[in-house]
Amino acid sequence: MEIIRSIKQMQQLMKQFRSEGNTIGYVPTMGFLHEGHLTLVNEARKNNDKVVMSIFVNPLQFGPNEDFDLYPRDFARDEQLANKAGVDVIFYPDVKEMYPKELSVTVKVKDRVNVLCGKSRKGHFDGVATVLMKLFNIVTPDRAYFGMKDAQQVAVVDGLIHDYNFPIELVPVPTVREADGLAKSSRNVYLSNKERNEAPELYKSLQKAVQKLNANERDLGKIKNGIQAHIEEKTSGIVDYVEIYSYPQLLPLMEPKGKMIIAIAVKFSKARLIDNITIEI
Ligand code: PAF
Repeated sequence: MEIIRSIKQMQQLMKQFRSEGNTIGYVPTMGFLHEGHLTLVNEARKNNDKVVMSIFVNPLQFGPNEDFDLYPRDFARDEQLANKAGVDVIFYPDVKEMYPKELSVTVKVKDRVNVLCGKSRKGHFDGVATVLMKLFNIVTPDRAYFGMKDAQQVAVVDGLIHDYNFPIELVPVPTVREADGLAKSSRNVYLSNKERNEAPELYKSLQKAVQKLNANERDLGKIKNGIQAHIEEKTSGIVDYVEIYSYPQLLPLMEPKGKMIIAIAVKFSKARLIDNITIEI
């Protein structure tokens, strides 16, 4: 496995890969790898000759009150995990390499951001789109792999790829779950034992909603209320939002139609958990 810190070297290597006829699968990350990331690498391995991972904690996607400095970093551990998972190249630039001076052209995401988690994280997706514009141009992948746990990010990336004609196939990878259904997340460690036992009810509430939709329930308000009631009854968490939108457009729906996302966020004492399900009617 190669570790590359310079954009120029990265571009040279990607050019070489391509001239040798290789396809490139790309897994963008901010490091501190967990099973979710390694699942993306496994998927990338299946369909590409080379797998590239980037590790870059992107300051542009953190708000002024968010934890850019405190964001967990452990490159030595990431390197071992990535190597074992079969990554061919880690692109590991520092902030100066990626942003040597203030950008003269910025990227502003217009749609798909004022809902779900984007509502409370102003500018977050502008930062994500900006860094991905750069990373896509540097890595030039054939396919890029993103976890559906962050379904809103996948929707925003879908818009970016289409609007700016990147010749990249976006591959959304299903959320990795614990045996009891809880979506895997580095934040799960902040749950108390009691909360950890309650947390699988989040996924159960979504599954119940899907059952209702499949049984032809048309009232989305009722479905949302059902999810909220389930979580309030079965857990000590406080519901932040329960939303249903078209997917990936993230537009409001009057009734169940086409591909939709049901998404929730629930606050526990030290962790805010998110989960979602997509369904096609
Ligand atoms: O999902 C992440 O880890 C980040 O938002 C990404 C896609 C690597 C962009 O910085």
